Amino acid sequence: MCGIVGYVGHQDAVSFILPGLRRLEYRGYDSAGIATVSGQSLDIRKTTGKIADLEALIASDRPEGALGVGHTRWATHGRPSDTNAHPHIDCQSRLAVVHNGIIENYRELRKTLAADGHRFRSQTDTEVIAHVIERYQADGLVAAVQRAAQDLQGAFAVVCVAASAPRTLVAFRRGSSPLVVGYGRGEMFLASDVPALLGRTREILVLEDGELAVLTADDIILRRFDGAPVRRSPRTVDWDGEAAEKSGYSHFMLKEICEQPEAVQNTIRDRVDVDGADIRIPELGLKDRELTGLNRLCFVACGTSWHAALVGKYLVEAFARLPVEVDIASEFRYRRPVVDSRVLTVPISQSGETADTLAALREARDQGSRAVAICNVVGSSLAREADGVVYTRAGIEIGVASTKAFTSQLVAVTLLALKLGLARGFVDPSMVRQVVKGLMELPELLSIVLRQSEAIREIAEHFVDRHHFLYLGRGLLFPLALEGALKLKEISYIHAEGYPAGEMKHGPIALIDSRMPVVVIAVATEGDTEIGNIADYVIPVPPSLEWLQPHLVAIPLQLLAYHMAVLRGCDVDQPRNLAKSVTVE
Ligand code: AGP
Repeated sequence: MCGIVGYVGHQDAVSFILPGLRRLEYRGYDSAGIATVSGQSLDIRKTTGKIADLEALIASDRPEGALGVGHTRWATHGRPSDTNAHPHIDCQSRLAVVHNGIIENYRELRKTLAADGHRFRSQTDTEVIAHVIERYQADGLVAAVQRAAQDLQGAFAVVCVAASAPRTLVAFRRGSSPLVVGYGRGEMFLASDVPALLGRTREILVLEDGELAVLTADDIILRRFDGAPVRRSPRTVDWDGEAAEKSGYSHFMLKEICEQPEAVQNTIRDRVDVDGADIRIPELGLKDRELTGLNRLCFVACGTSWHAALVGKYLVEAFARLPVEVDIASEFRYRRPVVDSRVLTVPISQSGETADTLAALREARDQGSRAVAICNVVGSSLAREADGVVYTRAGIEIGVASTKAFTSQLVAVTLLALKLGLARGFVDPSMVRQVVKGLMELPELLSIVLRQSEAIREIAEHFVDRHHFLYLGRGLLFPLALEGALKLKEISYIHAEGYPAGEMKHGPIALIDSRMPVVVIAVATEGDTEIGNIADYVIPVPPSLEWLQPHLVAIPLQLLAYHMAVLRGCDVDQPRNLAKSVTVE
């Protein structure tokens, strides 16, 4: 996912844009660039590499201007190169655009524009945007951008600056690429994600699908692509700048692993109480009688969120006796899935912006299914488009490897399963009380598990040079085997497979030799001395209800992957080839 940061006001634009881009560094990127406008001249600088490379490029000759936009690119069309880096310009070099997402009809547009004499410099889909705007330039910048927006197909967030309009920043958005504007005094800001704005403003407004924003130093005007005015007030975000920093931890991932007791506490807050057998999720958007009428639930998600969904299947089937399907969102959206009004679709996503999960939600709703999203980012596309939402309240997650969002998702699916079970009359209230009690104890138990970080680091030391790992688990712990393997793969680049324990004898056992570590996620009773005789290393977790074991064992698996990655010298927060949110197909 690309990062975008824009500024218009009376100060030096670069001084806002570069730190803003740094705040978005966690998304992963391959090149960076900046465009500023000063007087009537447009200045473009761009390079492959990190923001440090861009800083080096401009160190001795800093671009001037109180209007500008910066970009970090994660290549989709055209390899990472200086030429393909954003911003991209028109034929006359009078306007510049940056873009996040995909222009689906760029080939057709490029062909038509080329026939009209436009010459292209890059292999990107983005460059056509500058040329389409140029085609309408006689209308003035804002009108030209508005007309261009209507010509583009796909999912995109675009920002444009032009030498002809040295006090105006124009941005527009369609589909799943997010764009946020921020309100200052005598200056306005823009970014693809809130952390880039923190420290300068907390007054923000998220652009909706099909909206265009015109930013000047004193105002932000919103309208639809067809010109219809939009009136919405900004909201105040309660995240502060520090929440987006590492707070003394060596990596965001470690910080977020350690934040899990608090994240889980927040997920259950106000939704359960000690003596009641009631689960309160007012934002669910569905009445109890609607839950009773369901005949199936369908989870859709990607990656780690899909693993949370697999745990959700066990819980919903156990507590609510409702048949559950779990689909990888990209598979669901490209099949002809069978859903209807008696199916509840539950997309799960940390970001709420994952393109495949959003598309799966839309497909399900088009077929008449109701949808309740489990999501971490308030106001994200997924949350807005679903009928209801269970927010996971894990707080901002910056590390590319999802950790606290995962355990919060496990808690959210537990709450949903209990809620469904109660509404449908399939779960005994005494069981609900037991699980609620277990959930309330969970933050304390998670803190106990976290104390084993150093012991887990020592275990990791024995395995840093291994090339393959096998993770095994049964029942509720099978999805955790998948999650443990995914964590190890994505941050330490060690090949790992997760398997249901019972499947070993049907093939994978042939892989085992003396160099293959096997992580067995198993339950041993407290005081069991036998387990130490059959395993080389044991990482104990405190006793808990069977239903809550996945929530606890997630932490040792995250810590094992984290320490392995650090010991192998890997870039834990920005693993190669990965982005935090995959907002493209
Ligand atoms: C997790 O560690 C991943 N990096 C990735 O699998 C992630 O869970 C997936 O891309 C889904 O993201 P989402 O939860 O924001 O939709």
